[in-house]
Amino acid sequence: MSLIIDGKKIAKEIEIELTAKVSSMENAPRLSVVQIGDDPASASYIKAKANAASRVGIHLTHHHLPIETSIEELKSLVNDLNESEDGLIIQLPIPKKLEPVLEMIKPENDVDGFHSENLGKLVQGISGMTPCTPAGIIELLYRSGNDPEGKHVVIVGRSTIVGTPLSLLLSQKGVDATVTLCHSRTKYLEEHCKEADILVAAVGKANMITKDMVKPGAIIIDVGVNRTSEGLVGDVSTEVKEVASQITPVPGGVGPMTVVMLMSNTVKSALEN
Ligand code: GUN
Repeated sequence: MSLIIDGKKIAKEIEIELTAKVSSMENAPRLSVVQIGDDPASASYIKAKANAASRVGIHLTHHHLPIETSIEELKSLVNDLNESEDGLIIQLPIPKKLEPVLEMIKPENDVDGFHSENLGKLVQGISGMTPCTPAGIIELLYRSGNDPEGKHVVIVGRSTIVGTPLSLLLSQKGVDATVTLCHSRTKYLEEHCKEADILVAAVGKANMITKDMVKPGAIIIDVGVNRTSEGLVGDVSTEVKEVASQITPVPGGVGPMTVVMLMSNTVKSALEN
């Protein structure tokens, strides 16, 4: 049976460090979260972010706009918040026609790390805002005693917000993992997964990683958040616990790390800008 990597507990440790930092700042860092429409998952993520901000001492403002919001209205709000806030995020998903506005968030305020300038810095190994879920996974590995240096990490899922930036972070000098990035067109997925010392599942498909895909003793990071009739489940089937050495739970694994890294990026932005 595998050990649980307790993301909730590790996120709490980071939260305590951030709270101390914020208490020594003259002004509370300011974070605005823009929500468009009424996606239930977005509402639940924003609630978690607001609760964390309140514990850390970050001043969070939630701007809730109707789904009919025009691109001009959203641009105008983003322009205002670019000036007043340390951090600004637009909770995804948003209607496709509004997506160009994501690039209008000032890169130094882009605490989600989604702006092309921040993703470009990541490619070049220059310090910028790092996307929260990949940054959270790196912290989770180090703080659970699993230095990825020299390890073969197999990531399943090449999204712009998780799989692709995580592959860049892990292969950076100083982190030094060897990375295989798998996706929907990968042939022999099972064989690739079985080679992993550390397997990261970030697809968004309930229970898609089964125990026959996992090397005995591997470390499993489950990024999936799938709402099913049985409740919230990850991308990794529960039977994987029989073969893995360590595994992140869903909920309580990567999710709290994403939230605390957003707090960390907001504090960083307030200190640097
Ligand atoms: N939707 C799901 N995850 C995220 C996230 O990390 N940031 C934003 N802005 N939207 C999301």
